[in-house]
Amino acid sequence: MKIAVFSAQPYDRQYLSERANQSVHKHELIFFDTTLHSQTASLAQGCDAICTFVNDQVDQQTIDNLPESVKLVSNRCAGFNNVDLQAASKRGITVARVPAYSPYATAEYTVALMMTLNRKIHKAHDRVRDGNFTINGLMGMDMFGKTVGVVGTGQIGAIVTRILSQGFRCKVLAYDVYENPEVKQMENVTYVSDIKELFAKSDVITLHCPLTKETQHLINEEALGMMKPGVLLVNASRGAVVDTKAVIGALKKRKIGGLAIDVYENEGAFFFRDFSDSGFDDDTLARLTSFPNVIVTSHQAFFTREAVLNIAQSVFESVDMFQAEGKVPEKNLVK
Ligand code: NAI
Repeated sequence: MKIAVFSAQPYDRQYLSERANQSVHKHELIFFDTTLHSQTASLAQGCDAICTFVNDQVDQQTIDNLPESVKLVSNRCAGFNNVDLQAASKRGITVARVPAYSPYATAEYTVALMMTLNRKIHKAHDRVRDGNFTINGLMGMDMFGKTVGVVGTGQIGAIVTRILSQGFRCKVLAYDVYENPEVKQMENVTYVSDIKELFAKSDVITLHCPLTKETQHLINEEALGMMKPGVLLVNASRGAVVDTKAVIGALKKRKIGGLAIDVYENEGAFFFRDFSDSGFDDDTLARLTSFPNVIVTSHQAFFTREAVLNIAQSVFESVDMFQAEGKVPEKNLVK
């Protein structure tokens, strides 16, 4: 198959090409640095499939502008909030994703973000590099015995819960629209039926739900108002689960003790690109990065060797089956 790969980074080129070469079928990959949107859709001219990532916009307009030859969208991530499934289905386009490439990658990174924020390791690192060996202002808190709220206890949230409840011996308050039986059995974990209880009682809150209509701006002014003063917030799910402007307000009022995010509402315009020479034009992001108690990383929680290998593997599972049978494995199918 001829496949247009959008948002292609050097590691995508390497891992996808290597995996394509091992495939039972012959595939031609055409890599584009650019993200996919309505104006770039025509780049897939002559292709049978497109391979997209988190910030590629597979919306109605893009789908309208895709060449007729494109019959498969292979999203090389777990989330699929970037794809208009109805529009794809209407055009007879199959949509695949990578349902699980390594939930450990994102879960372990979340805990790293949480501990960096709590123990101010980002600031300590800068100080020492600058020859400043003082520790004033770097005081953190023991995680042992603290209450951590985990919103979303699917694959990633469950691993985060296990690390926190069994490793750190935190008390975990879990919230999900479906309770995970594996999480329910864990020691030091209690499910709450009302998310407000989690907001009110947690010292740290970490988000692991998908972005849906229900979770968009779940962390808004009202939710922030219910939280304990000094709460630490961590988001490695999707940017728009947090209302960034409301969080900036809470940071300014010192209502929240810190924020660590790997995702940002408007990340599509900036993440995975280098603006170090030109500067970036986003006042909200600039304000966020100006707080000493805010850590922003650019959507790298997934980024381990194991995860990238598994992503390439899963993409070609879908592509190979689609070529042979005109469908993708049920576990990868998005409908
Ligand atoms: P999953 O589907 O296994 O788990 C999501 C959980 O959220 C499910 O248990 C679901 O019931 C729950 N949920 C749905 N609506 C909810 C609501 N309104 N309130 C509370 N919980 C709700 O997904 P997985 O693999 O654990 O991933 C979670 C999210 O993490 C993904 O949707 C994706 O957005 C994000 N992610 C971020 C990565 C990164 O690099 N920063 C990498 C991979 C995933």
